This record gives sequence, structure tokens and C-alpha cells, in this order.
Amino acid sequence: MDVELLEPDRERLWSHVHELAEFAEPDSAGWTRRLFSEPYRASREWVRAHMRDAGLEVFTDPAGNIVGRCPGRLGGPPLVTGSHTDTVAGGGRFDGVVGALGAVEVVRRLRETGTELDHDLLVVDFLGEEANPHSGTCLGSQAATGVLTADHLDLRDGKGARLGDALQGFGIDPGGMLRPSWAVTPLHGYVELHIEQGPTLRRRDVGIGVVTAIVGIERLLATFVGRADHAGTRRMGDRKDALVAAAKTVLAVERIGCTGPEAAVATCGTLDVEPAAENVVPGRAVLAAEFRSDDREWLSGVQRRVAGEIGRLAAENGVEALLDWTSDNDVVPTAASVQDLTANAADELGLPWLAMPSAAGHDAAHLAARCPTGMIFVPSHDGRSHCPEEWTEPDEIATGVHLLAATLLRMDQR
Ligand code: GLV
Ligand code: MN
Ligand code: MN
Ligand code: MN
Repeated sequence: MDVELLEPDRERLWSHVHELAEFAEPDSAGWTRRLFSEPYRASREWVRAHMRDAGLEVFTDPAGNIVGRCPGRLGGPPLVTGSHTDTVAGGGRFDGVVGALGAVEVVRRLRETGTELDHDLLVVDFLGEEANPHSGTCLGSQAATGVLTADHLDLRDGKGARLGDALQGFGIDPGGMLRPSWAVTPLHGYVELHIEQGPTLRRRDVGIGVVTAIVGIERLLATFVGRADHAGTRRMGDRKDALVAAAKTVLAVERIGCTGPEAAVATCGTLDVEPAAENVVPGRAVLAAEFRSDDREWLSGVQRRVAGEIGRLAAENGVEALLDWTSDNDVVPTAASVQDLTANAADELGLPWLAMPSAAGHDAAHLAARCPTGMIFVPSHDGRSHCPEEWTEPDEIATGVHLLAATLLRMDQR
């Protein structure tokens, strides 16, 4: 098979990316299509129709993932590719979408060129990859690979709604999330195309990243309980101000990130204050933080260090602190075999590439526990992502999709 023939139809793919972007929450910035939102529900119908139009046999697995099957000559353990189509609030058009729609474009080119694979190829749009208000991420890939437990379904969002009930309301049987449909079936391999979401490829002026590992992510929900009081009459020395303790924690988290290893990062992304009135001393504050690194040792020390700092700051301000940790994923190396196949395919296509870790989380981190897994990155303009300015050139996307096709061909032949 001449891989040159599998070059994607750049204009067609680009217009599909923009068609999907039309499904957006009207009152939010950028291209917002969050898990459980109406636009996400509607866009999933579009994705199903889009997959069918490409000739895929489409079904939704028990975990709510949309799967399109392209039957192979021999069958056996399937080859899997895909990504996600949900976005963060105020997100862009390319995060996840490039990998999901890029995979469908690969299938179109396989059919148009009469190319048959030996293995079945599954194209997957994983349910809810982005962080959701129930303190979870990668819902579909975690469920399908057997990581979710009944405890996860009991997680509550800021308004007290259970994750299990939210799934039910979205038309997904929560019980299905506990049936690890993919954990019990052997898979031949998984490869995911994604935008880099950081500045490395653009800085180095290289069009392709061959991902070597995905960072580990630890998440913290810290609840500070103080005492609401009259902001005029309660003297400064006699307050239990929950927000002051939380605000000092924001700075402590930043310091921990700044003093970590080179690629370590620490972020406080949300802060909710109650009762939230300018003339009331805040009685309660809830803060969400996350810590990422490709250095396992540092990451495992983070919980202890953060707990110590918060304990000290809470005591200093007379408030109580309750800490709830969830581990998104450990540092996940990708399979050397898939890295090699991608690198060789890139060489064959004459594409310069760079071996690099991923600083963002991905569904691939969960698939890696099931089968040989790899990822391909394409550049992000200015390294911007999770914002409306997220941008990757049509040519860069097409190049990534071509390499995805070439990698899948090589994986199929192993
Ligand atoms: C999701 O995109 C993440 O990396 O947090
Ligand atoms: Mn993503
Ligand atoms: Mn994302
Ligand atoms: Mn991600």
C-alpha cells in the first residue's frame, strides 16, 4: 500500500471541524460544548451521522462512547483510534476534535482508495474527556477500561447533583459505566491524534510530536469551613474567614508549582465562596487545584506537602479544612513499539518529528493500561489551548491525519 494515497482531503476535514464547532452553548465564550449540555447532546447525533456517512457501523457502548467500526479482513483484536468532542468552558475548536474527526477522515480515505485493513478498526468519540463539575475527567475511557467504581457515580457537583443522576438524565445508563466492556476484550493497539496544546512544536518549528509519556495528574478539592459574620462588626482578630485561608492556599499552590521540577505545574482553577456578599465575612470556600508532572516522585510528595501547608494556613485563620484528593492518572509512558511505528511512518512521509511528553491529560492515558498505546501531536499556535484562541493550521491538521493513517497501517501489519 502506498501511504501517499491516504493523504486526507484537507478542505473536507477542515469544513467538518467547523461544522462540529457550530454546536456550542450560546451564552458561553468561545466554542463551549460541555458534558451534559444540550449542544453536546445534539453534536453527538451529528457525530453518529458523520461516522455513518463515512461508512462506519456505529454503536454507543455501555460507557456512552460513540464507536464506529470498520471491519477488517481478518478480524481479531481491533485496532482503535479516536479522541473526544466535548470541550472546556470557553474552549476552542480543535482540542479532541482533530483526533476524533481526523480518524473518521482516515476511514473515508481507506474506503476511497479501496484499502482494507487486516484488523477491525474502531473509531471512538470518548464521552466527556474534559474535567467535569463532579470532579472527574475522561469518563468514557475510564469507564470502558474498568477504572470507574460505584463511588464515582456518587460524586456530586457544586449543586449537590450526583454524577449517576446526571448520566441518567443524559440518556446513559449509569450501570453501564461499571461494565468495563473494553477491559475484557483484547485490543490490538490504540493511537490518538491530538493538538499539542503547548508551545514546544511551534518553538522548535517541527510539525509532528511523537508522544513518549502523558503527565501524571493529582486533583484536590479543598473545603474551608469558617464562620460567616457581619463584615462591619466582627473585628479582624476575631474572624474565621474561609476565603482568606483559601486565598493563601492559592499562593501556596503556586509556590509548590514554581519550586517543583522543570515541567511541574500547579493550578487553582475554581474558587467558590459562600455566602458571597460584600458585607459578610466568608463562612465557606471551596477550591479546586491540580498538580501535574512527569516526575512521579515529586507528584507523590505533593499530597503531603499541600496537606501540611493547608493545615498550617487553616489553623492560622481559625478555619477547618477538608481535603478530597482524586488521582486522574499516574505518569503514563506510551508504548515504545507505537512510538517507533509512528516515527518510522513520519520518516517515510518525510515529516520532521520530535519525541516529547504530553503535559495535558488524554483518553490515551487510560487506553495505555489495555493495549500498546501511542499519540501524535500537531502544533498549537502560540501554545494556546482551552481558550477560544486555540488554533492549528489546516495543513498541520492534514499532516497529522496523514501520519495517523500511516501509523495505523503499520500497526495493522504487526
Ligand atoms: C484536559 O484537557 C486536561 O488536560 O486537563
Ligand atoms: Mn483533549
Ligand atoms: Mn482539553
Ligand atoms: Mn485533555
